[in-house]
Formats: sequence, C-alpha cells, structure tokens
Amino acid sequence: MKAIVQDTYGSSDVLHLRDIDKPVVGEGQVLLRVHATSLHMGDWHLMTGMPYLLRLGFGLRGPKTSVRGMDVAGRVEAVGKGVTRFQPGDEVFGTCDGALAEYACAREDRLLHKPSNLTFEQASAVPTSAATALQALRDQGQVRPGQKVLIIGAAGGVGLFAVQLAKAFGAHVTGVCSTTKVELVRSIGADDVIDYTRQDFVELEQRYDLILDTAGNREVSRLRRVLTPKGTLVIVGGEGGGRWFGGIDRQLRAAMLSPFVSHRLRMFAAVTRKEDLEVLKELIEAGKVMPVIDRTFPLSDGRGAMRYLEEGRARGKIVVTSAAA
Ligand SMILES: NC(=O)c1ccc[n+]([C@@H]2O[C@H](COP(=O)([O-])OP(=O)(O)OC[C@H]3O[C@@H](n4cnc5c(N)ncnc54)[C@H](OP(=O)(O)O)[C@@H]3O)[C@@H](O)[C@H]2O)c1
Repeated sequence: MKAIVQDTYGSSDVLHLRDIDKPVVGEGQVLLRVHATSLHMGDWHLMTGMPYLLRLGFGLRGPKTSVRGMDVAGRVEAVGKGVTRFQPGDEVFGTCDGALAEYACAREDRLLHKPSNLTFEQASAVPTSAATALQALRDQGQVRPGQKVLIIGAAGGVGLFAVQLAKAFGAHVTGVCSTTKVELVRSIGADDVIDYTRQDFVELEQRYDLILDTAGNREVSRLRRVLTPKGTLVIVGGEGGGRWFGGIDRQLRAAMLSPFVSHRLRMFAAVTRKEDLEVLKELIEAGKVMPVIDRTFPLSDGRGAMRYLEEGRARGKIVVTSAAA
C-alpha cells in the first residue's frame, strides 16, 4: 500500500510517498481502509521531533513509527480478535497511528461510527482538535452558561471547535485571531472577535471568566490581568519557547503558580477517548458543531499538506484523502 513515510526528523522535506506492507490487524484492533486523514500540530511535532523533549518518548534519532497521521476516517476492512463494536463495511472515525496511508490499524476504543451528516473528509477533521477543545472547556475550564470566554487562536484547529463548543455550552465567546480570519471566526458563532494584529486584548476593559490559550506565547502574568478574580486560564498550547521544551515550560510555570493565586491556571495533555467522540458526534448531528476544512490534498501530496500546516496560514483543518478511497 502507499503511505507517507519519514526516516529522520526534519521539515516536510523528510516525508516521502512509498510502497510499504499493509498493516496486520491485531487483537482488539480494527483495520481501516483510510478515506481521509486530517493534520494537526501534533503531527508536525512528531515529524520535526521538536521540541527535543518529546524525542525521549518518540525516538531519539528518528521517529519510532515512520508513518505520520493520527486523525482518521474510513471504512472497516477487517476486525481483530475480541472486537465487538465494529464489522467490515462500517464507516468510522477516530485516532490511530500511521493514518497517512491507504490502510491503518486503530484500537477499537479509539473509534466510533461516523456522524451521519459528515463526509469522511469532515469526520477526519474532528477527533484530536475537537476532543482537545472539549476537554479544555468542559474538564479543565469547567465552563458554565453565561460565562465570558476568551479563545486565543480562535481560527486554529482547536480554536474553531472551541468557539463552537463554548457557544453550545451557553457561554459568551470572544475569539482572538489575525485580520484575514476575523470573518471566519464570526461566522462560526463568536459573539466578539479581536484582531490581535490591531488590538492587544490585555489593554482592553473586558474581563473573562475563562481563557483558552491555544496560540502565541503570551506571558501568564499578562493573561491573568484579563481574568475575573476567580477566573480560569487553560493553556492548551502555543508554539514558541526554546528548542528543548517548546511551550511546555510556560505551561509548567503556570501549573506551579496556580496553588498560590486566586486564579485557576491549568495545563493538560488531551487524550481522544471514545466517550468524548460520542459527545462530539451528538453535537455534530444536532448541528451545533461543524468542522471547518480549509484545503484537501491527495495522499500523493502528503508532503504538500504538511508544508501547508507548517506555514500556519490555514483557515480551518487540512485534510489528506487516500488514493484507495
Ligand atoms: N494540550 C494538548 O493536549 C494539545 C492538543 C492539541 C493541540 N495542542 C497545541 O495547541 C496549539 C494549537 O493547536 P492547533 O492545532 O489549533 O494549531 P493551529 O491550527 O496552527 O492554530 C493556531 C492558531 O493560532 C493563531 N495564532 C498564531 N499566533 C497567534 C497569536 N500570537 N495570537 C493569537 N492567535 C495566534 C494562528 O492563526 P492566525 O495567527 O492567523 O490567527 C492559528 O489559527 C498547538 O501548540 C498544539 O501543539 C495541545
């Protein structure tokens, strides 16, 4: 089968389209004929091996798994021993390793039947970004109706879901993004949008009960200035920082400060669970949340898709469709 493979860490230039063996389905696993894969910053981190800290877990000299891609939608080709929820032919979405390929194996508990109102391309755009936004708002942020919520990086993969989810939870939502994305963020339901290239929200009057920070590398002390006295800051991510720790040191500093201040300062690592996909599927089928896709690339141009992600200009999710689909 065809797959996008890398042998070493580096820019998108390390990615190559190659013929490799089709994966063999194991116990508790499902073999998928991949229809679509969406990319996110996690794929970029694994491709580049940056920050260096992550190489401790994913391979010192090169990635332990050579095929990139995690978020997937496709049709079940075969099921392994012990799999009870799926059968060949089912249309599913979820997460796995090696999704930038014609076939991939996923754990049964990382998949769900595809929402009825989404295409494979749209469904592949949901898992990691939407589950991260859900966990950030609901679990870490404990968002409540009527609260004022600020989403920094509102036009990004996580941010576009966060805006819609915060609205679905009944919050008043302000999105922060750059000029060309203001209309997009407004169109998905943000009550207010701040163009950070023209206005610094820290200098404005407004205070927020909950801030989700998905972008930039703003000092925590500055973000705390726009929180209400008992407000919560959830640092989802943000690029920048050093080559060794990336944005992680800012997150750790915030978490360590939290017990000593009135604000709740949270960091977390999202895990895409079946239970969360169920919540998201319900919201999607109710029309309250929809993925936004910027561009679709064929698998043969997986490198081009990753390059587009690297450029950081996307207005929504980047999707790669498999030749086998
Ligand atoms: N904690 C976790 O488990 C977890 C899970 C998923 C992702 N993450 C992390 O979360 C971050 C966001 O991921 P993503 O997939 O949403 O990335 P993304 O799609 O690249 O989105 C980032 C967005 O931030 C905007 N941005 C850039 N600089 C900004 C600034 N200074 N102020 C405000 N917005 C700015 C970008 O567009 P514009 O500048 O044009 O507006 C872009 O839309 C990444 O660092 C990722 O690694 C963490």
